Amino acid sequence: MSETTSTQGPPEAIDLLIHSASQLVTCAGDENPRRGAAMRQLNIIDNGAVAVHRERIVAVGHTYDLRARYEAHKAIDATGRAVVPGFVDSHTHAVYGGDRAQEFEMRIRGATYVEIMATGGGILSTMQHTRQASEEALLVTARQRLDQMLAQGSTTVEIKTGYGLDVQSELKMLRVIEALDRTHACDVVPTFLGAHTAPPEYKDDAEGYTRLVIEEMLPQAVEWYQASHFADTGVPFFADVFCEEHAFDVSQSRRILHAALDAGLRAKIHVDQFNSLGGLEMALDLGVTSADHLEASTPSSLQRLAQSDAIAVPLPAVSFNLADDKYADARALLDAGAALALATDLNPGSAPCYGMPLVMAIACRYQRLLPAEALITSTINAAHALSLGMRIGSLEPGKQADLLILRDHDYRHCAYFFGGNPVHTVIKRGQVV
Ligand code: NIG
Ligand code: FE
Repeated sequence: MSETTSTQGPPEAIDLLIHSASQLVTCAGDENPRRGAAMRQLNIIDNGAVAVHRERIVAVGHTYDLRARYEAHKAIDATGRAVVPGFVDSHTHAVYGGDRAQEFEMRIRGATYVEIMATGGGILSTMQHTRQASEEALLVTARQRLDQMLAQGSTTVEIKTGYGLDVQSELKMLRVIEALDRTHACDVVPTFLGAHTAPPEYKDDAEGYTRLVIEEMLPQAVEWYQASHFADTGVPFFADVFCEEHAFDVSQSRRILHAALDAGLRAKIHVDQFNSLGGLEMALDLGVTSADHLEASTPSSLQRLAQSDAIAVPLPAVSFNLADDKYADARALLDAGAALALATDLNPGSAPCYGMPLVMAIACRYQRLLPAEALITSTINAAHALSLGMRIGSLEPGKQADLLILRDHDYRHCAYFFGGNPVHTVIKRGQVV
């Protein structure tokens, strides 16, 4: 791992030195996603320090070394606190209109998520509210959500479209996603999920809607991306599909993702949430960057996922929220060598959950992840799920200075206690937020 040693000569001027951390949890390693034993290797420096200049980390090491080597404009004493990389939330639907509190009550009374979805509620109910909302209104509510996410440590957040479901409303969502990135301290990564479900205009015609997505929405989404500042700053653009009964079958999902890959996007998939239709195998053949959900995946397809380059993304807040005892078998994936990442899946239906700490807490209890594995899955591996593993996700020289000073001395408290906020201070691109 990269660590500085003391050098002679006058101290170098830097913007910020965070020092005396009880644990500086670097999550440092090679350029690949972590797998197997590396999922538990946090590379912790006791009494650690991080030197930051402009937006980047210039050094990590022992407090006495870095204090001798750097003259910091601002110093933060992290005595009694652990310091970890900022969390990366690689799967969210954070832009939406309205809410679904009423469906929450319906589920408590016994209706299932799929029943509500099949009768025009669920995603379609949020679609109505999202279509009706102005761009400004969507921006205001999404910004408030990002505030909460950032306060709980998410310094980079992926956001999907998928509640517009017509050309103009999907483009409206893309513009809101870009405006969020420009105006919020959080970094945002855009995903086009035009294929979330077929809208009422295409009721019982997922095939016709698939053609609309491929022939009209996707080309305009590509045009939007090319003119956006995401393209300028090297932030990738993903396409995603909900491959499921009442959404898109394997053939439709394949055609949409194939067209997206051809157009230069990267691919993700919502797959095997309720039913295993064969979409996971298809997605692995296509070369998706990540496969998300996986609650209903068969043991053999999980084995294949574990051996592929795709990041496996279980979303345990969904099972928790739907009070479903079927969690993705994250332990089997890990033990088979998968590169695993966790995410909130924040959305108003299946996962009204802002924070990675609760997701980690659930994953440790119901998917038997160790706290070290939960941290790797929420930082460096989650960065790889967004193809940003070279830029964020660990505390190493050259990386963006996104880090969290925790309230406690031991990183394990992130997952061990739950219901509060383990994050004391968020540092984003070198600035205290
Ligand atoms: O990831 N499963 C599909 N999409 C979302 C749910 C969206 C919604 O319910 O609004 C998910 O669970
Ligand atoms: Fe989702």
